Amino acid sequence: MKLAKRLAELAPGTSKKLVSFGLSGSDANDAIIKFSRGYTGRQYVVSFMGSYHGSTYGSMSLSGTSLNMTRKMGPMLPGIVHVPYPDLYRRLPNESEHDVALRYFDSFKKPFESFLPSDEVACVLIEPIQGDGGLIKPPAEFMHLIYDFCHEHGILFAVDEVNQGLGRTGQMWGIEQFPGIEPDLMSVGNHSLLVCRSVL
Ligand SMILES: Cc1ncc(COP(=O)(O)O)c(C=O)c1O
Repeated sequence: MKLAKRLAELAPGTSKKLVSFGLSGSDANDAIIKFSRGYTGRQYVVSFMGSYHGSTYGSMSLSGTSLNMTRKMGPMLPGIVHVPYPDLYRRLPNESEHDVALRYFDSFKKPFESFLPSDEVACVLIEPIQGDGGLIKPPAEFMHLIYDFCHEHGILFAVDEVNQGLGRTGQMWGIEQFPGIEPDLMSVGNHSLLVCRSVL
């Protein structure tokens, strides 16, 4: 009870929070699929190429970081669509950060314009900074564009803080690197750094 209260106080934003405990970061990301589908009544989940969300079937299906995770393991969980994650380290010639944000937002919207009805999408799940993908921080503009897109279309905005949360980026949560964003769902883990012990 004490931990739930503390986490709810620490979580970004001022809205009322609910905390659910699970077994691992992977389990927490499975819960993001379940809670967002249950809450919205919609089936699809959008996640990002290069992401690592865990090793259970749900979280592994959300991930997109290594062929070794999926080879011979399919079929993955249906209803998950992967989109590219912006990478400022690999820009096109003369591309500004703004250009990168717009180019990747364009790619993000492509499925919604061709085969993915936005009113059937439960949530978009993103690592605020990709961890296993190579410590990649997207442009703030991109984060705000997809956050606004989600809210315009009734899609929940979910963040995976298992790798970057609990103070590991200099803010309590990785998403706080992008001021003005309050996620609807957040998965948290404490498996890899002792810092969380003193923080909590
Ligand atoms: C971003 C991210 N999400 C989820 C997980 C899975 O967490 P767990 O290993 O506790 O299942 C990890 C594990 O490294 C991770 O880095």
